[in-house]
Amino acid sequence: MKILLIGSGGRENAFARQISLSHQCEKLFIAPGNPGTAYFGQNVTISTTDFNALKQFVLENAIQIVIVGPEAPLVEGIFDFFLADNELKSIPVIGPSQQGAMLEGSKAFSKAFMLRHQIPTAAFQEFTEENIEEGLAYISTQSTPIVLKADGLAAGKGVLICNSIKEAQEEFREMLGGKFGDAGNKVVIEEFMSGIEFSVFVLSDGKNYKILPVAKDYKRIGEGDTGLNTGGMGAVSPPPFVTPAIIERVEREVILPTIKGLQKDNIVYKGFIYIGLMNTPGDIPKVVEYNCRMGDPETQAVLPRIETDFMELMQHVADGTLDKAELKISDQAAVTVILASGGYPGDFEKGYEITGIENVKDTLVFHAGTQLKDEKLVNSGGRVIAVTSLDKDWLKALNKSNLAAETIQFYHKYYRRDIGFDLK
Ligand code: AMP
Ligand code: GLY
Repeated sequence: MKILLIGSGGRENAFARQISLSHQCEKLFIAPGNPGTAYFGQNVTISTTDFNALKQFVLENAIQIVIVGPEAPLVEGIFDFFLADNELKSIPVIGPSQQGAMLEGSKAFSKAFMLRHQIPTAAFQEFTEENIEEGLAYISTQSTPIVLKADGLAAGKGVLICNSIKEAQEEFREMLGGKFGDAGNKVVIEEFMSGIEFSVFVLSDGKNYKILPVAKDYKRIGEGDTGLNTGGMGAVSPPPFVTPAIIERVEREVILPTIKGLQKDNIVYKGFIYIGLMNTPGDIPKVVEYNCRMGDPETQAVLPRIETDFMELMQHVADGTLDKAELKISDQAAVTVILASGGYPGDFEKGYEITGIENVKDTLVFHAGTQLKDEKLVNSGGRVIAVTSLDKDWLKALNKSNLAAETIQFYHKYYRRDIGFDLK
């Protein structure tokens, strides 16, 4: 099979590895990829949202299947673009339709979806500039903390948790005033849910689904979950507190109604669904958010635990026969630690040489923000490298990943030494 993978992060490096392990992988291309994906396939310099250039490449190289990593091309409608094109429509795209991607692309859309299909989530109301006064009055009736969410994609920054009514009202005005650009034209005001978060990943062919390994990520930059939000600084799969009973409840109350709801709403969804959940007191899981893709860095912990031939799974998604697939999951746990550039998620400097990767043993090294410059590997992004270790005992996996994080060197390297601290 000739495969095109779209994306360039640590997540896509983990995808590229998993694809290359498949017996069905004849040739893998990654657009645009990174120095890590180049170990597993051929990188091609095409942007993830340049659909016309992707089309030309797919036709010229007889690509048979396209797997989409990041949300941007999905929210921009890459699935629909292929389907609407006579030359491309027979080539399956693994990822939801543009409407399906709205589950991530619009908070108001996803909240309305959950309400319509009785999927447990925080109570909410949405407001625009038109009814700003109603919004301010609504906030004054709420208990604190109050959660404000910009409707659209805001690079992970569009959610504010406010500790007073006054702060919430000020932030609400600023959001509608353009603080997050157009993403904040509509604001969702949500009840605060307490509990511990975890992420469930579902692979769907539109009718059938498979539940992939569960994970927990660490979003804050600082140890003890402090400081600014990041894309994610580490992940543990499976998080020990997520019992089979919790998963069973998530399947019944969230996953099934999600898949059925998509069908009822005539939304085509052949891809990954990332369900962010809060395990609220009493082990009652409620949805925090949907994403229309896999998580980063959760993918780096989740995929290495999948033992089923990955391209066989993808083919089942394309064919709508996922019910015929057998999903085998390793009983080893995986722990991923992110090595970031000092200063991230704020400003940071690029171009420092990365050394020591060759000394890492018994741990997977995934590139995220790296680049080759004059034949040297240097940092080029906030999150630079993800290391993943596997072991039956997740604490041993953690120790291996921490050792690898120490072994790889670059100037101003930063990593959280406390991944999994709340699970011990
Ligand atoms: P989101 O972009 O919706 O995932 O929100 C980002 C983060 O904000 C989540 O991962 C949670 O940690 C937090 N968050 C979002 N909504 C709520 C909520 N209703 N209650 C508590 N925390 C929330
Ligand atoms: N790790 C969080 C995300 O991928 O959205």
